[in-house]
Parts: sequence; C-alpha cells; structure tokens
Amino acid sequence: MAIRKVGVVGCGLMGSGIAQISAQAGFPTVVREISPELLERGMGSIRKFLRGGVEKGKLIQADMDKALASLEGTTKLEDLAGCDLVIEAATENLAVKKELFQALDGLCGPEAIFASNTSSLSITEMSTFVKRPERVIGLHFFNPVPLMKLVEVVHTLRTDAGALAAAKAWCMAIGKTVVSCGDSTGFVVNRLLIPYMVDAVRAFEQGLASRDDIDNAMKLGCGYPMGPLFLADYVGLDTTYYITEIMFNEFKEPRFAAPPLLKRMVLAGMHGRKTGRGFYDWSTHPPS
Ligand code: CAA
Repeated sequence: MAIRKVGVVGCGLMGSGIAQISAQAGFPTVVREISPELLERGMGSIRKFLRGGVEKGKLIQADMDKALASLEGTTKLEDLAGCDLVIEAATENLAVKKELFQALDGLCGPEAIFASNTSSLSITEMSTFVKRPERVIGLHFFNPVPLMKLVEVVHTLRTDAGALAAAKAWCMAIGKTVVSCGDSTGFVVNRLLIPYMVDAVRAFEQGLASRDDIDNAMKLGCGYPMGPLFLADYVGLDTTYYITEIMFNEFKEPRFAAPPLLKRMVLAGMHGRKTGRGFYDWSTHPPS
C-alpha cells in the first residue's frame, strides 16, 4: 500500500516536527492536539522553523506556503479518519496511548498503519490495544526532527511486511534515513545514548571534571555536536530520567540506572531547556 495521507497525534516538540516534515514533503497531513492553545503553540513553532529556513536561505517562500497548505491542525481525533499512516507522538504514558489507539482503531480504515514515536515504551504492548496488531510499528524520530536525519523503524514479532515496507518508503520520501530494529526497549540509539548521558551526569556528580570540561571533552575530543550534559538538557532531564527508569526496569543493568543527581534535578523542576534551568541556564542566549 502507498501512504497518501498522514495523521500525527500530538503537536508538541516531536509531533510538530513530524507533521512539519510530512507536510513539507507534500503529504496532506493532519495534526491533532488536545486543546486549541496547545495546537496554536505547536503550529506557531512550525511556522517559526519554516520562516527561519526561509531567512537562512534553506527554503523558498513558495515551499513554505506549500508546506503550510498541506498541513491541517485539529483538536478532533475524528479528523484523522482518512489517514493511511497515523503517528502517535503524545505524552509517554501507556494509558494515554492505549486510549488513543483504541479510539483510532474504530475511526481509521482497516489498512491504516499505526505508528508510535515512543522512545522507550513497548511497541508490542501497544499492538495489543488494537484489532490490527500486525499494522502497529514504531517510528522513532530524533530531536530536532526537521534536522536529524534518522528514523528508527521498529517491528514487532508480528508486524506485517507490507506495512513495514510502506512505512519505510514514507520515511525515505520525507528525506529520512531509516534503520530497522526489533522491539527492544530503547531500540538502538537510546540503548547506546542513555548510558553515555547518565555516565556523564555520574562523572559530574563524582567531581571528575566541571560541566564545561565534560562537555568540551566530548565535543572537541570526539567531534560530537553537543556535549552530553548540554544534550541531556536539550532532550529534557525529565525525559532522560523517565527513559532510564524504563530501561533499568527492563534490563536490570546498572548502566541504565539514573544517578541520584539526575533524579534530584528532576524533582527540583530543573528539566533543562524546557523549564529554563538544568545543567545550563537556558534563559540566556546562548545558554550559560
Ligand atoms: N530550516 C532549514 N534548515 C535549518 C533551519 C531551518 N529553520 N535551522 C537550521 N537549519 C540548518 C542549518 O542551516 C544547518 O545546515 P548546514 O549544515 O547545511 O549548514 C543545519 O540545519 C544545522 O543548523 P545550525 O547550524 O543552526 O545548528 P548547529 O550546527 O548548531 O546544529 C543540531 C544543531 C543539528 C541540533 C546539532 O547541534 C546536533 O546535531 N545536536 C545533537 C542533537 C541530538 O543528538 N539529537 C538527538 C537527541 S536524542 C532524541 O531525540 C531521542 C530520544 O529518544 C531521547
């Protein structure tokens, strides 16, 4: 089957990016948020990114207009009924995802593919929420979605080969490179990235080096675009902590365990970029 129309559930950091690149690639795309305020915030960030692209000379105005014309925002899940692919990028809460997928199962055609952008929850478990488990996959995008080239395409033990091929073809049509992997908690990237980031927090907590020295070590010594503490702030310390909990519960390996400092920063409301304060102060530009 070919994917013609795309639905995205959630217009936050990830959902807005996914909706944007889908529309930019010319796919009629409907993005749904739970309130007009959240929808407007997400659509505003899409417009801002596209405008930035025009100002940087990466995009011409006509392409921006075309992308916005392919994009429809809604607060009604029913508006996703005609979509061939629905990507869920809602909050990382299995109960929320269950309710969404069950509702979508009743709304969308039997051939529609359901994907989750989850970074660590089980795609197999999500597939049990619907009457089409063989059409449920993971499409894990990376932040910032419009700039990061990768999508992890996740299959379960019972994913239909045709559905998987159609989803991969769509990822390539929107300009991404795919890696395929099975449904193991954290997939490939977070299996490797999370221990690295939490090790950096541990090194900082134990006084090995200062924040800037740890980040500069990895930036300048290994050529990484961001140091690990800056990246943890960028991803969100709450999100990072949440992923460590899921991964530790799954694998019971100390390398996935959250260092006490990470837990305390999250408890103190220091979630990184999104709350303005983490390892860095994000109220200044650049973060200090
Ligand atoms: N429209 C189009 N292009 C744009 C743009 C826009 N609005 N804004 C920027 N760009 C382009 C720039 O022109 C530039 O292009 P060239 O390379 O061709 O010059 C490119 O995008 C990079 O932009 P900048 O130069 O402004 O920014 P940068 O060089 O500082 O890079 C970054 C920014 C891409 C975010 C880089 O720092 C990076 O790769 N960081 C690592 C991010 C990362 O690791 N993300 C994954 C997090 S983990 C995750 O998401 C998953 C999870 O489950 C936790």
